[in-house]
Amino acid sequence: MKTIKYGIVGTGYFGAGLGRLLHAQEGAEVVAVYDPAHAGPIAEELGCDMEASVESLCQRADIDAVIVASPNGYHKHPVLCAAEHGKHVFCEKPIALNYDDCNEMIARTKEKGLIFMAGHVMNFMDGVRTAKKLINDGRIGELLYCHAERNGWEEPQQEVSWKKLRHISGGHLYHHIHELDFIQFLMGPAERVSMMGGNVAHQGEQFGDEDDMLFISLEFANNRFATLQYGSAFRWSEHYVKIQGTKGAILIDMQDVKVVLKMPGGEERFLLHESKEVDEDRTRIYKGLEMDGAIMYGKPSATPPKWLHGIMKKEMTYFHGIMQGVEAEDEFKPLLDGTAARAAIATADALTKSLQEDRKVSVKEIMEKDIVAK
Ligand SMILES: NC(=O)c1ccc[n+]([C@@H]2O[C@H](COP(=O)([O-])OP(=O)(O)OC[C@H]3O[C@@H](n4cnc5c(N)ncnc54)[C@H](O)[C@@H]3O)[C@@H](O)[C@H]2O)c1
Repeated sequence: MKTIKYGIVGTGYFGAGLGRLLHAQEGAEVVAVYDPAHAGPIAEELGCDMEASVESLCQRADIDAVIVASPNGYHKHPVLCAAEHGKHVFCEKPIALNYDDCNEMIARTKEKGLIFMAGHVMNFMDGVRTAKKLINDGRIGELLYCHAERNGWEEPQQEVSWKKLRHISGGHLYHHIHELDFIQFLMGPAERVSMMGGNVAHQGEQFGDEDDMLFISLEFANNRFATLQYGSAFRWSEHYVKIQGTKGAILIDMQDVKVVLKMPGGEERFLLHESKEVDEDRTRIYKGLEMDGAIMYGKPSATPPKWLHGIMKKEMTYFHGIMQGVEAEDEFKPLLDGTAARAAIATADALTKSLQEDRKVSVKEIMEKDIVAK
């Protein structure tokens, strides 16, 4: 089997983790990394080259695919550069901070016939796969409504992470795009959306400028709805998605770490991750978390906890398989060309507009600008 050679742009907490996982795959080799500040240790660990720029990395003839794991607002340049040089791309979430940038990235990768996989890692959670199967098997009937919460409390920071700065991270909505993407995967594209919220309790030098409370409502075709909450001004933290159907309901609880199918006759429980041990490890971590997890353990030198490591491994195995020629299932095709990621960003942009203009916004308003790529 052909060895696939990878380059990585951004080797902080996540990029280094993805690099280690890829490098350990059979038939995979990380040959070069680029990071303006943290390339040295991981280059040494993986025995690969350190490139001086995104361009020099993307120009290398020996690289087949580029992993982009720089901060959110700095994904576009490496994705376009990789595409220009004919490299396949895996790009961390959110792939971009606005719909137009998504379009450009999709168009450039598509015209070269390249894979452009988005790092929507939630798709690789066992519990999410279980929930999708229960829904496909008709166990909860027709979907009526979804509700997600992803919130906690942020303490004052010694140093403010880029993850808390709106122009680089996009704030909670873009940075934690997972739940919005997942709900749209289940219910289809939202049609009309609204958002209220703001920065209610985190002003000053020890905080970023993102909104710390966001309340979202989504309207779908046929009288179907979803609501979501995001933020770091919630002393009572929650992290779950609840899916309500005509015959039953499913809870995917990322904080209490369980998946529950609720039917008129009782409940069935499933694991969220691959084993009881991993589920218990995540429960322990979440119970000990006193602040937003994104900044708690998202440090360049930190290693991901077991549960995250497990799904990152599944994700990298999947991407590497695709690179080696494995046929993608229909369900995953929109994940492999950027279109699922773009649909989530279109809705996020419509929500942002709703907050700014204090009105309900049709997602079409954002997509009408879609002249570059379909
Ligand atoms: N899927 C997930 O669950 C998940 C979890 C964590 C992070 N992420 C994503 O991974 C990406 C990286 O996040 P992280 O936690 O590793 O952050 P991080 O701050 O630990 O790492 C980012 C790295 O990018 C480098 N960098 C800064 N500017 C750059 C540029 N212009 N070009 C290339 N590199 C640059 C920094 O030096 C740093 O080493 C983000 O897009 C983030 O949203 C995803």
